[in-house]
Amino acid sequence: MPESAALAMAARQREIAVSEFFLKNRHLLGFDSPHKAILTTVKEAVDNALDACEEASILPEIRVEVVHKGGDRYVVAVEDNGPGIVEQQIARIFGKLLYGSKFHQLRQSRGQQGMGISAAGMYGQLTTGRPMRITSRVEGNRQATEMLVSIDTARNRPDIHRKRKVSWRRRHGTRVEVEMEGHYAHGPHSVEMYLKQTAIANPHVTLRFVGPAGQTLVFRRSTDVLPPLPSAIKPHPHGVELGQLIQMLHDTPARTLRRFLEDEFSRVGATTARHIIERTRGRLTERSNPRRIAHAQATQLHRAIVRTPVSAPRTDCLVPIGEKRLLEGLGKELDADFFVVLTRPPLVYRGNPFQVEVGIAWGRPGDAALAIDSQGRIRKQKKRKKAKGETERAPKADEPAHVLRFANRVPLLYQQSACAITRAVIQTNWRAYGLKQTAGNLPIAPMIVVAHVASVWVPFTSESKEAVAALPEVSRELVLALQEAGRRLAAHIRRDQRLEREYEKRSYIEQYLPHVGLALQDILDLSDRERDRTVARLDTVLHRRRKP
Ligand SMILES: Nc1ncnc2c1ncn2[C@@H]1O[C@H](COP(=O)(O)OP(=O)(O)OP(=O)(O)O)[C@@H](O)[C@H]1O
Ligand SMILES: [Mg+2]
Repeated sequence: MPESAALAMAARQREIAVSEFFLKNRHLLGFDSPHKAILTTVKEAVDNALDACEEASILPEIRVEVVHKGGDRYVVAVEDNGPGIVEQQIARIFGKLLYGSKFHQLRQSRGQQGMGISAAGMYGQLTTGRPMRITSRVEGNRQATEMLVSIDTARNRPDIHRKRKVSWRRRHGTRVEVEMEGHYAHGPHSVEMYLKQTAIANPHVTLRFVGPAGQTLVFRRSTDVLPPLPSAIKPHPHGVELGQLIQMLHDTPARTLRRFLEDEFSRVGATTARHIIERTRGRLTERSNPRRIAHAQATQLHRAIVRTPVSAPRTDCLVPIGEKRLLEGLGKELDADFFVVLTRPPLVYRGNPFQVEVGIAWGRPGDAALAIDSQGRIRKQKKRKKAKGETERAPKADEPAHVLRFANRVPLLYQQSACAITRAVIQTNWRAYGLKQTAGNLPIAPMIVVAHVASVWVPFTSESKEAVAALPEVSRELVLALQEAGRRLAAHIRRDQRLEREYEKRSYIEQYLPHVGLALQDILDLSDRERDRTVARLDTVLHRRRKP
């Protein structure tokens, strides 16, 4: 009965709301276990707070609270001093998936998809039946708006439970509260570790944390300088795919092909537009109407676009942390003997500009480091301990190196082995730099490797934005950056080993100096003063051989 089966199936066909889809597939958004739920919520809300503050040129002050309500119930609250959200937008931002201000813009931001925070709300709603509570105030408004909002998951629409004006001590900002079932994790996947790593990649941010046991932590900014605001760019012609081109031709307000090319793409001016059109071999003209371009012509146009030389994309859409700030961030949050930082020049994958940065923190806190003082003396230095909550310490000399991964300044805490960053660290031959490493593994060394991929569109392996996909362009660039950092590290280790040997030699000789003095006194018949002066001179000579 194929016909009746087809009819029966037809009766069951219906549209699937994006919220229904992600409710069933919430692992795709990072909500696959109660362990991850709290951290993912903090991460989404902090990402948004930082994006909003930076866009409004406000130095971010962020407060994160995790309150234990008993059993497996928690309330996660994140409050920022950002520009606030206008009242009409609150419900859609928090009560609708795929609604946001960043998806259609090509510039570096932490959020890109338009569903991070609504997904957190949806998870809370699913596990506790409670809506999100949003408080937001825009500068100049006398009061803040407080709204309780949930998602109508069958329709992907917001449900407003309550809306009222409230007085709020902040002049502007937003507070997001989600009640959820969760498990508060400690260690490498803890909120504290996430905040610490956020502080490393964002030294201009002050983060305050109140944990479920009432513990408080403050990560203070080390600079008052905001990173420059990245500019939004248009797509680069060499990154556009045929289907996307057809859609763009359909949607453009431009009336002529030449205008379309100039207006919709970056780096296309009158001359490049003319060159592209000439390459369609008369099939299209400058005055062709973009909306009337048929599929075959669009294919021809796509080929012409790909073959025409166009200048590389602008890169002011990217804001790397920068070597100076990365060093500040590392020095502020990690205790190490030696740091290497480097920022590579920007490159492009599929028309999307991206940039890679790498840092290495070498040595463990508590170990004594050798340093040469201004007189050329080699001394052992005791290091300061930095114990702020959960600490990230370099591994011991016989343990694998730690890897801290960042994408658009956001720490990535999950799916380490699936990430292009970890793979690049494994792929780099660290033996060439004097470290131990077996094939297919992380090097064995007391070091923390930090790598940051910044892009207008980070190629994540999934919507949960937990790991960077190993695209060849990105992986190659990561390996090159790590190799350069490795070479600098090797030079430091060689110098350190040389110092260590010299230190041992001198300490050995120093031990005997008083005896040499006594022997000389005896042989040369010196007075006590002459003997002491000779010993002091020998000591100076011993240390003078090294120039600082
Ligand atoms: N604290 C905030 N202050 C101001 N605006 C905010 C805040 N939080 C969210 N927004 C606005 O709400 C939008 C939706 O946020 P959401 O986290 O759902 O998506 P996104 O950040 O655009 O992308 P992603 O899904 O990758 O996080 C943002 O694009 C931003 O415009
Ligand atoms: Mg977001």
